[in-house]
Amino acid sequence: MIDLRGKRAVVTGGARGIGAATVDAFRAAGAEAISVAKSTHGDLADPDNCRRAAASIGAPVHFLVVNHGIWVPEEASLAAMPAEQWRRTMSANLDSYFHVIHAFAPLIPAGGAIVLVASTAGQRGEAGHADYAASKGATISLTKSLAVEMAPGVRVNCVAPGWVDTEMCALPFAGGGRARIEAGIPLARVAAPADVAGPILFLCSDLARHVTGEILNVNGGSVLCG
Ligand SMILES: NC(=O)c1ccc[n+]([C@@H]2O[C@H](COP(=O)([O-])OP(=O)(O)OC[C@H]3O[C@@H](n4cnc5c(N)ncnc54)[C@H](OP(=O)(O)O)[C@@H]3O)[C@@H](O)[C@H]2O)c1
Repeated sequence: MIDLRGKRAVVTGGARGIGAATVDAFRAAGAEAISVAKSTHGDLADPDNCRRAAASIGAPVHFLVVNHGIWVPEEASLAAMPAEQWRRTMSANLDSYFHVIHAFAPLIPAGGAIVLVASTAGQRGEAGHADYAASKGATISLTKSLAVEMAPGVRVNCVAPGWVDTEMCALPFAGGGRARIEAGIPLARVAAPADVAGPILFLCSDLARHVTGEILNVNGGSVLCG
């Protein structure tokens, strides 16, 4: 139903997890999809790595999915959180989003779209993970700011996933953790990466041609906010 033949997509963090499923979904829809990840292009918190990646890929980039990120699994109250952890999360999850958008936005033609990946943590906070929640809350406000700045040519939207079955969640899912988490989700399951890739493709497609500045919940009903 979604036909993206002739289009090019760049997906950050496309080597694994949600990003890899998004690369697969773009390819299934006929688009060319390119992953930009740490293992292939270096740390995207370094603006030089972003500039090099953008220069080597070149225009046009019809769709930019800014998805890469980290989540420190060990819980730490903000009062006890090492400053190094705070800086590392902000660098990986927020500074890098600025540098990626800075480098790639000039390659996006009119009619293109950006999708950023936030989290339920950015909507409701996450005790024990305030660094992550703050970075994802910032991603949500960044989406809304950028959507107006880039209109009318380029649409900018965001997905806010809840728990997703990726390496990021190996620790909380261990030892019966997954079943406990699923008991609190109205749709009673943790999302597969493809469950997030589909809404990302929708937001890039013409089906969403009048949608910009939107934060799309992809959480099985666990956080119901508009
Ligand atoms: N999993 C969840 O439950 C969940 C829930 C809500 C939101 N999210 C968000 O969804 C996005 C994807 O998460 P995921 O679960 O798919 O994670 P994942 O499986 O851990 O994969 C993360 C990807 O991001 C890349 N990456 C991380 N830091 C990077 C950096 N500084 N520079 C360049 N690349 C970097 C990694 O590159 P390499 O492969 O090269 O290491 C990897 O490809 C993240 O923004 C995450 O916060 C995830």
